[in-house]
Amino acid sequence: MTQKERPRIAVVGSLNMDVVMESGRVPQQGETVLGTGMHMLPGGKGANQAVCAARLGARVSMIGAVGADGFGEEMTAALEREGIDTSCVLRRGDTPSGTASIWLSGGDNRIVVFPGANGTLTAEDVSAPEPSRLLREADAVLIQLEIPLETAAEAASIARAGGAIVLLNPAPAADALPDALLRSASVLTPNRGELAILAGESAEGQARLIEAARKLAAASGGAVVTTLGGAGALVLESADREPEAVPAAYAGPVVDTTGAGDCFSAALAAALARGSAPGEAARYAACAAALAVTRLGAQGGMPTAIEVGGLYSASADSAGG
Ligand code: RIB
Repeated sequence: MTQKERPRIAVVGSLNMDVVMESGRVPQQGETVLGTGMHMLPGGKGANQAVCAARLGARVSMIGAVGADGFGEEMTAALEREGIDTSCVLRRGDTPSGTASIWLSGGDNRIVVFPGANGTLTAEDVSAPEPSRLLREADAVLIQLEIPLETAAEAASIARAGGAIVLLNPAPAADALPDALLRSASVLTPNRGELAILAGESAEGQARLIEAARKLAAASGGAVVTTLGGAGALVLESADREPEAVPAAYAGPVVDTTGAGDCFSAALAAALARGSAPGEAARYAACAAALAVTRLGAQGGMPTAIEVGGLYSASADSAGG
């Protein structure tokens, strides 16, 4: 692989231990149901994106924080097994590691996240000499919102000033983003619900979806790639361009959608960093996400470059007739 095929990607974000409970159906308010499976799996939107980017061939560094506890050790080791540089994952002695409680039923999920150490990552932490060097030297930087907004904004502005493609995955949804964060993002990857909240208007139906994406693209000055689950994605390169609909790919039955959005964002960043145009990068990312949902677990489900390349070629062949 050439250096260009192995872009440098820095991820600024969360590491969570995912406590996954499988059940036939999710409980109603005040109800208890018996589970059919339980798994403790390293997750967190930041760490999931780091693992995906690494499996797709990027040279990845993770910037984040864990507690000085067993979960922290396990999550850091999981990243290291993927060849990810964890020298900028800070260990906090006074705060537990982030933890997510995930209810998995029928392949879909509901998640409650306790930020723990992720919530202690400060703007000063990311602007320290080593993390800021990683941000400045990266080809692409991935940021999500399970860390404080001002930390995300600082990381984004350092990265953008250094010339990186800054991909902001605005998840979990935030009512408003600091202007510095929005303006530093080269690409935003909301889902439909996150887009509606950020645009301050409904994104239901194709016309309103496009209008909301245009509003967000105008506010940020960058591209907006809205993920639509089984309906694919909508790529808007800038507020004044025509949007491009990217169909979902199919790789098999859905087992677990946890981390599918993380997979899409990371694959999009990897493809953009290799020089793909946004529409082509989104088609590649749709193939990666289609593979991810066929397996259990966010990080466990992340596909390899060979798998995604195979599905991408097969999808392109069938689209071409
Ligand atoms: O996007 C999926 C992730 O959201 C899970 O791994 C969980 O940790 C939460 O952060």
